[in-house]
Amino acid sequence: MRIDILTILPKLLESPFSISIMQRAQEKGHVEIYVHNIRDYATNKHKNVDDYQYGGGAGMVMSIEPIASLIEKLCEERTYDEIIYMTPDGEVLAQNHCNDLSLSKNLIILCGHYKGVDERIREKYITREISIGSYVLSGGELAAAVLVDAIVRLIPGVLNDETSALTDSFQDKLLSPPVYTRPPEFKGLKVPDVLLSGNTKEIEYWREEKALERTKERRPDLLEE
Ligand code: ADE
Repeated sequence: MRIDILTILPKLLESPFSISIMQRAQEKGHVEIYVHNIRDYATNKHKNVDDYQYGGGAGMVMSIEPIASLIEKLCEERTYDEIIYMTPDGEVLAQNHCNDLSLSKNLIILCGHYKGVDERIREKYITREISIGSYVLSGGELAAAVLVDAIVRLIPGVLNDETSALTDSFQDKLLSPPVYTRPPEFKGLKVPDVLLSGNTKEIEYWREEKALERTKERRPDLLEE
């Protein structure tokens, strides 16, 4: 998979992809991540990438031209499955979207700033608008990092234990059951006996029960879908 991220703050995206699982995924060749600075495509003297909004009002709007030339350049080089815009008014991201997107070959992710991008960018180029939750971030970069992480870890071979992505919370519309490691007792708090029993059937049953119990308690909406 190839992911091109378009941003005015490339520095914000340096560390999320340079350590741990995301770093290994790139080193092993599962994903290529390119961060492009939109400012490099600004043609005016001051390299401005934003402008006042028509109709007045506080807040700048990201200009069409630099973003359009960058997107058009990339689209001449290859075909993209989706051109995604990270925005609080997009569709709220869920595991099933990540599953679908993890099958993509090429993705563009545009990070918004200020009041957002000129609407015509959305009309002409954007194929999908994604929000990572009902709150507003200072920019789309951290949202893009969340999206990329959630997608890349699903690419086969990225996680060491191939089955572990399948047992994640949400993957089967259930939250994960509680987990424990050593010691078997901490300040009077004991690991449930069944987990120490070695009885794999019983353990599996216990985990399913706990997952269901936790989901009913915390996210009953998942069970209604
Ligand atoms: N940009 C600002 N807030 C955002 C959010 N919640 N999701 C996606 N992009 C954003």
